[in-house]
Amino acid sequence: MKNLIVANWKMHKTRAEAKDFAEKLKKSLANTPLTEKEVVIIPPFTAIETVATVFADTKNISVGAQNIYPAQNGAFTGEISSVMLADIGVNFILAGHSERRQICKESDEFINEKVLFALKEKFRVILCIGESKEERDANKISEVLFRQLEKGLVGVEESDLLALVLAYEPVWAIGTGAVASEKEIKETHEIIRKKIVAIFGEKGHTVQILYGGSVKADNCSSLLAVANVNGVLVGGASLDADSFRDIILA
Ligand code: 13P
Repeated sequence: MKNLIVANWKMHKTRAEAKDFAEKLKKSLANTPLTEKEVVIIPPFTAIETVATVFADTKNISVGAQNIYPAQNGAFTGEISSVMLADIGVNFILAGHSERRQICKESDEFINEKVLFALKEKFRVILCIGESKEERDANKISEVLFRQLEKGLVGVEESDLLALVLAYEPVWAIGTGAVASEKEIKETHEIIRKKIVAIFGEKGHTVQILYGGSVKADNCSSLLAVANVNGVLVGGASLDADSFRDIILA
């Protein structure tokens, strides 16, 4: 299984900044064929096409979108559709990020609608799950993750699994510098793997599970060595081209 290295830029970078980043990264990886890794950059909507254009001829680097509305078009003011995203070269869709769960009040049911729609529209989908500090302290990790997985994956078929990626992002580790320990990640990723195998059978072993939350160039290789960690989802440290290159090469 190839490691998936994903940059989530959140609400950062103008088109000029995105172009600068993409060109710099492309140049610094020019002599390094990415055979064991697949890289995805997820800019804000306005910069997706800019980044996609720079990497149009680059194998194993593609772009994603941070959100999708579950319809092809229609009267949905402020939303973005599958047709529009496909039109600018998007391959991956992020769903269920904790910032959208918490700040935008997205429910498991609405996230599930997005997951199903994005799969139907032939995107690869990264479903984010993860517990808060309070939930971890109250020993509710499995309960929270099982709910997010069971509700988020309603209607997903075994045949969709190759297009599905899970990302475990403990909320308390996002943007805090407090990366989860290797022991915590090992335990939680095992819980997630077992659950996904319980839902989908043996095919559940093929689903990539990423870790996200304060991933940096200097902790990335030890995180990737943990069992059932098949890649990383990177926020802050993906905003600088050199730092993200070091993560890709870790
Ligand atoms: P940080 O890497 O900044 O902690 O963000 C993680 C994240 O939310 C990626 O989706």
